[in-house]
Amino acid sequence: MIIKNKTVLVTGAGSGIGEACAAAFACEGARVILTGKTQAHLEACRKKIIKKYPKARCMVSAFDVRDIAAVRKALETLPRPFRAVDVLINNAGLGLGKEKFYEGDPADWDVMIDTNIKGLLYISRFIAPEMVARGKGHIINISSIAGRRAYPGGNVYCATKAAVRMLSSAMRIDLIDTPVRVTDIAPGKVKTDFSRVRFKGDAQRAKKEYLGFHPLSSHDIAEIAVFVVSRPDHVVLDELLVTPREMISTAIFHKRR
Ligand SMILES: NC(=O)c1ccc[n+]([C@@H]2O[C@H](COP(=O)([O-])OP(=O)(O)OC[C@H]3O[C@@H](n4cnc5c(N)ncnc54)[C@H](OP(=O)(O)O)[C@@H]3O)[C@@H](O)[C@H]2O)c1
Repeated sequence: MIIKNKTVLVTGAGSGIGEACAAAFACEGARVILTGKTQAHLEACRKKIIKKYPKARCMVSAFDVRDIAAVRKALETLPRPFRAVDVLINNAGLGLGKEKFYEGDPADWDVMIDTNIKGLLYISRFIAPEMVARGKGHIINISSIAGRRAYPGGNVYCATKAAVRMLSSAMRIDLIDTPVRVTDIAPGKVKTDFSRVRFKGDAQRAKKEYLGFHPLSSHDIAEIAVFVVSRPDHVVLDELLVTPREMISTAIFHKRR
């Protein structure tokens, strides 16, 4: 798929991997819809993109992926040039807490399950039929290395990401008789706001997650998203596990200090 003039919708585009994906696709000449929970984050990202690529065509739509009515309304009211979504990047997601499961907060579990699994399903449920009807499209789901093997305190977050991986596989099966492609990108540790969110604003604790090794950047993942979408239409990069060199799995990790 040639990216120029395609319409790309990114969830969770207000920071981290989503922001980098929005910028990378804008750089390639795509129309980009930045969606996320917080309007101010999205506006700030849009401004950064426009500053870097003055000809970029991007718009902002703030909604919570957990709210199916809000998802529907946002998609139904997209302005005409942005209405036909060619690429959906299901990126919005989070981990909350790192306690043992029997000490975890069920309210945190609900947020993770509702965002990482149900939010991804809601938006895909609305956009995929239009891709099928138009006979083209690409869905990229951002799962995680956490979905492949649990780690201490990962419990519910790992389970949600294992579900994303399984949904990616199921989507491919359900779309096999259509031209719509599905790719699952499973990043290892990427330096973003993820840990700050997980540790509820504890910046010191978050910083420690990235010490002693060279983590991925959100740009590393965005470049890969652009690469997978720009393959010819008959080529699918199905599942991609992308890790820092010093990380092989959630269990095998080399920290220099
Ligand atoms: N960082 C890593 O090491 C890593 C590794 C593997 C996978 N991942 C996955 O990568 C994805 C992006 O994470 P990130 O590292 O880029 O973290 P991030 O910087 O915290 O970005 C997460 C984004 O998701 C949005 N979001 C959260 N809840 C939402 C909701 N209910 N509705 C709409 N948007 C929502 C946030 O929007 P607001 O800012 O507006 O709240 C934020 O822009 C997540 O799915 C994460 O699980 C991250």
